[in-house]
Amino acid sequence: MKDPFPAYAELRAEQPVMFDERTGYYVVSRYDDIKAVFDDWETFSSENAQAPVRERGPQAKRIMEEGGFTAYSGLSARRPPEHTRIRAVAQKAFTPRRYKVLEPFIRQNIVDQIERMLARPERRGDLFRDLAYDVPTITILTLIGADTGMVDTYKRWSDSRAAMTWGNLSDEEQIPHAHNLVEYWQECQRLVAHAKEHGGDNLTADMVKAQAEGAEISDHEIASLLYSLLFAGHETTTTLISNTFRVLLADQAQWQRVVEDEKLVNGTIDEVLRYSGSIVAWRRKALKDTEVAGVPIPDGAGLLLLMGAANRDDTQFEDPEAFDITRPNAREHLSFGYGIHYCLGNQLARLQARIALQEIAGRAPGLRLADPESITFRENISFRVPESVPVTWEA
Ligand code: HEM
Repeated sequence: MKDPFPAYAELRAEQPVMFDERTGYYVVSRYDDIKAVFDDWETFSSENAQAPVRERGPQAKRIMEEGGFTAYSGLSARRPPEHTRIRAVAQKAFTPRRYKVLEPFIRQNIVDQIERMLARPERRGDLFRDLAYDVPTITILTLIGADTGMVDTYKRWSDSRAAMTWGNLSDEEQIPHAHNLVEYWQECQRLVAHAKEHGGDNLTADMVKAQAEGAEISDHEIASLLYSLLFAGHETTTTLISNTFRVLLADQAQWQRVVEDEKLVNGTIDEVLRYSGSIVAWRRKALKDTEVAGVPIPDGAGLLLLMGAANRDDTQFEDPEAFDITRPNAREHLSFGYGIHYCLGNQLARLQARIALQEIAGRAPGLRLADPESITFRENISFRVPESVPVTWEA
């Protein structure tokens, strides 16, 4: 996880579609192949996108059954026509008006966090913990109408979700996480019931209102969407904000350019998404006998699409191993997927990273990475999450 890029390069060059015995997945690493798979949803379904990589153990299964855990992916693992129907309702709730209302609130929250960090006399901080961790969580909780005092609880539930689905836990290790998932799902259902009874000015209430006005979506589907958003809506953005500073501060010349010219901020965020995406791999399942780049793929096979590798494919990006904030086609990265499942929250993620970069660049131009070698990444097949971004700054 610390540096998968040499392995990615080897795969692209030597085995762009490789069957991996250990996981049982066909691993795909070239840009054009991954984009084509994403685009062909009739052959390659997303139904395995949220399936546990390692099967749940008997104790975890029992805890989840007894706890009434019936959550199902809000959107990403659903197939048309169900996916089309639910996405239409969700998309209507993700309106520009909601972002407009949220923006000043997000900015204020970011400024408060930064100023708190910069006030420390020892002039040391951790942008993962001091900024990236809370901000997107508070944003999504506000958007959904959930309790913003529960950041740590939602982070705990989300960590469990990431570990239980894309991690490699033993049966024993799964037990506390199974309890967390039960609590998490119960809270999603409670939020739907609360919006039905009390209304509100938030995304949950919007979806409940749409349902009352005839939109075809069940309570269980709305709760499942919350189950997705309360995870997807912050975990990956925490990583994006962390990576923005981890990567940019490592290159002080480019950092200074951003400090001096705010117009470079948007391009920088997309280059970070390309160069070091929050999600480096995502799954699909073949629905018939087919092929990718001439390699036969049998009906029912799982595919692991390495977007982290695609984003450094030199057939798509010139000098791909270089981080370049002025790269003209950085936005063509596949970090938000592609096609019918293209990330619903991409604008919200970009907005928060953009504000974080603008506000820090304006307040702490002398910011530096303190100890880049100490940064570790969690063990996970899809989410490449730096666990700290230690920084220091001049007086
Ligand atoms: C840097 C931040 C983010 C990254 C890298 C990211 C990445 C992704 C990826 C790779 C997918 C799957 C695409 C596919 O299967 O083709 C996805 C789907 C999705 N994302 Fe994001 N995401 C981010 C932020 C967000 C945020 C902030 C939200 C919500 C507020 C969100 C909500 C969703 C939803 C609901 C889907 C499912 C869409 C569908 O299946 O139709 N994401 N995202």
